[in-house]
Formats: sequence, structure tokens, C-alpha cells
Amino acid sequence: MANVAVIGAQWGDEGKGKVVDWLASRADIVVRFQGGHNAGHTLVVGGETYKLSLLPSGVVRGKLGIIGNGVVIDPEALLDEIARVEGQGLAVGPDNLRVAENAPLILPLHAALDKARETARGERKIGTTGRGIGPAYEDKVARRAIRVCDLAEPATLSAKLDELLLHHNTLLAGLGAPVFDKAALLAALLALAPRLLPFAEPVWERLDEARRAGRRILFEGAQAVMLDVDHGTYPFVTSSNTVAATAASGAGVGPGAVGFVLGIAKAYSTRVGAGPFPTELVDATGQMLGDRGREFGTVTGRRRRCGWFDAALVRQAVKVGGIHGLALTKLDVLDGLPELRINTGYRIGDKIFSRLPAAPGAQAAAEPIFETIEGWSGSTRGARSWADLPAQAVKYVRRIEELVEAPVTLLSTSPERDDTILVRDPFEG
Ligand code: GDP
Ligand code: IMO
Ligand code: MG
Repeated sequence: MANVAVIGAQWGDEGKGKVVDWLASRADIVVRFQGGHNAGHTLVVGGETYKLSLLPSGVVRGKLGIIGNGVVIDPEALLDEIARVEGQGLAVGPDNLRVAENAPLILPLHAALDKARETARGERKIGTTGRGIGPAYEDKVARRAIRVCDLAEPATLSAKLDELLLHHNTLLAGLGAPVFDKAALLAALLALAPRLLPFAEPVWERLDEARRAGRRILFEGAQAVMLDVDHGTYPFVTSSNTVAATAASGAGVGPGAVGFVLGIAKAYSTRVGAGPFPTELVDATGQMLGDRGREFGTVTGRRRRCGWFDAALVRQAVKVGGIHGLALTKLDVLDGLPELRINTGYRIGDKIFSRLPAAPGAQAAAEPIFETIEGWSGSTRGARSWADLPAQAVKYVRRIEELVEAPVTLLSTSPERDDTILVRDPFEG
């Protein structure tokens, strides 16, 4: 298997950015295939911190980055992000970033609708990033999205805006939110066109050529399996499929091209936004994990909810996500805890489940079935080999492997790029 797909195995923020950046040294091309700038991927390289939302994490390594058709692109956000990383000394131009010409755009009206809907939901809100992700995917499926290629055809753009505004202004007015003006939107898009179009191309063709030339492709997932629109804790999910199968359709390659699927999981659990979280800790231990793990959203700045490692949930993600191996991150955050817990299944009423059922009522009622494992007193922080790990930390990792039914092929022991233990090179299959 020459290629690798990296996907989140929990509710996001597992450290995908760090792992993709580390693996990018072994790849030629890094491809984003779903999601949008709801993602926040943090890379720490020699003291410099890069926060990426749309740019594939490979750009920091100087690799070719591709934004696939499965991504929803906010053109302003993309250009702002390029300017921001250029301010940190990276060069991003059409020679190292290509964007699928058939990717749908996120417009300001999508973010407005996202926020207006969340307000209208009140107590039942999803806790979205407010960036218009859901409404943009809805427009794609409804066949009214404006796509990157439309920027080259002003007449197409104008006609599509009429259709889009008829739909959105009606909804926005109904929600009591300000409506959008066509002339202003058209002018803004036409002004963005010459800045965006130089990046646009049929990326599937480049990927096909790269594959035939034996180049290594790294597919970079955003969000995670439990936020997948089909397989996650619906409706508290994002609006795209986040499983590895999406890497194929979201980039324009066949399913056989996806290769080794590396699932990323934290050594504990976190979640931003609302929704079921069976192993959540609302006590001092949860607070401590959040403080030590610096669990604040990269995109939203919101404090992430924290809890024990949920092996039943990750096992489910391994199965539906097609995960071959796991990268376990943030083991260092557990250093010094006298006792750790791992969830092995759920109790709902008087029934026992080995998986999280789909119905929202059952998910909300699911009680974890914990097993307790002794902690370790030494440090794992910055460890770069198995030999540097306390024996009890190795035991914890081994127990996770058993319970999730997948091998741990990579371990991350700090935010820094090189504080990583490779067990098995995913590019070797
Ligand atoms: P992503 O969305 O999956 O890319 O993850 P984020 O970047 O949103 O969140 C992960 C956070 O954990 C970032 O701040 C990383 O710098 C940090 N991180 C990644 N791996 C490790 C690790 O092994 N240990 C610690 N302490 N922090 C890590
Ligand atoms: P990365 O790639 C964590 C969550 C939001 C919300 C739900 C829907 O950094 O792991 P959306 O704006 O997508 O419609 O919000 O999904 N969410 C994430 N949580 N990490 C992310 O991305 C997320 N992207 C979306 O908080 O609960
Ligand atoms: Mg993140």
C-alpha cells in the first residue's frame, strides 16, 4: 500500500495535523478530501506553531498540497490563511497548492444561515463552528452550489446567484436575519476570481498521473468518525463523511488508491460542541485533563469537554472507518495520574451494548462500563522510543490495542513534530 489516509477516530482534534505533518516527510502529495475551515490542525515545528484550517498540513514540509472536490472552500478564508502562513515564512502559490475546480464554495450567506439556525435551535443547538459548512454541503447536494470553476464564467455565476439567493434570502428572512444583495455578492466573487483561479485544476488528473508515476499520496482527513454525517452521533455531527472511503470520492481517485488507513485517537477523549459523550468527566479530573492537554478549540477557542478513553467507541470507528492502525496521541497528558479508566461498552437501562446505538435517546442514556488500570509515575513526555516509556504506560497502550481491535502503529508524546514513536511505517502497508 503506497498511500496513506489519516482520519480522526473520536470527535476531532486528535492531533491529525501533527501526525500528517510528521508523515508528510515520507509523502509527495498531501490531499484534503472533506470538511472545510471548520477544521483546525495545529503543527508545532521547532517552536513555531502553525494553525491550519483549509491548507493541507503538507505545505509546512514544502510538499504539494491539494484541496479536493470533497472540501467546501470559503475563498476569503483560504486567501486569509495563505497570507497568514506566508507571514510565518512559508510560500504558498499555484506551484505548491492546487484546488479542485469542481469544489463547492462557501459564501457569506452560508455562515449567516449556519448562525441563524443555531440561534433558532436555542437549547438544542449543535454547537457548530458557525462557518457555513452545513449549508454549503446542503447546496452541493441540492445542485445549486457555486463551484470554483464557475468563477471563470460570469454569466453562469450571475444565473446561479439568482437561484441561490431565492433560496437563502427566503430562509434568512424567515429566521429574522439580514438578507443578501446580489450585486454585492457578484462583485465580491468576480474580484476573488483572479486570485483563486490560478490554483484551480482537475486535481483528479494530477492525482492519476502521480499514482502512475509511483508518487506517495497522503490523504488528510478533517473532523472524525464520530462526527461523520452517517456514522457519527447524529444530529450532533458535521455535514460530511469523514470515514476513509471519502478520501476516494473527495479527491477523485478509486477506492484502491486510498491505501493504509491510519486512525488518530487521543489517549483520552474530548469533544467540542454539544452531543452525547458517555465517558465525559465533569469533575476535577476532567478539568485537569483539559488544562494539561490545553484543550481549547483551534477554530472556536471553546473549551473542549474531556473524558476517559472510550475503547468501545474507537472500536466502532475502527470498523466503520476501515482503520488498519492507530496513532495514539497525547499519552503525556496522562502522566502521573494514579489510576486510569477505559470504557469497554455501554449499559442502557438493563441492556448491555458493545457499541453505541444510533438512536439519540439511547446515546444520551448510555452509561460507560469502565475497567480501571493503574497509572504510571514516570514521564512519557517527549519520548521517542518504546524503551523510553514507563512499563505501565506500555501496558495501557497494549490494553487499548486489544480493546479497539487495531494495532497502535504510531505514538505521539508531545505537540512537537519529532516527539513521535514509529512502530510501523504506514507507507509500508
Ligand atoms: P487535529 O484537529 O486533529 O489536527 O488536532 P488539533 O490540532 O485541533 O488539536 C490537537 C492539539 O494537541 C494541538 O494543540 C496539538 O499541538 C496537540 N498535540 C498533538 N499531539 C500531541 C501530543 O502527543 N501531546 C500533547 N501534549 N499535545 C499534542
Ligand atoms: P478537526 O479537523 C472538533 C464539530 C463542531 C460541532 C459539529 C458541527 O480540527 O478535528 P460544523 O461547523 O462542522 O457544522 O459543526 O462538529 N466540529 C469539530 N470538532 N474538531 C473539528 O475539526 C471539528 N469540525 C467540526 O464543534 O460540534
Ligand atoms: Mg482540530
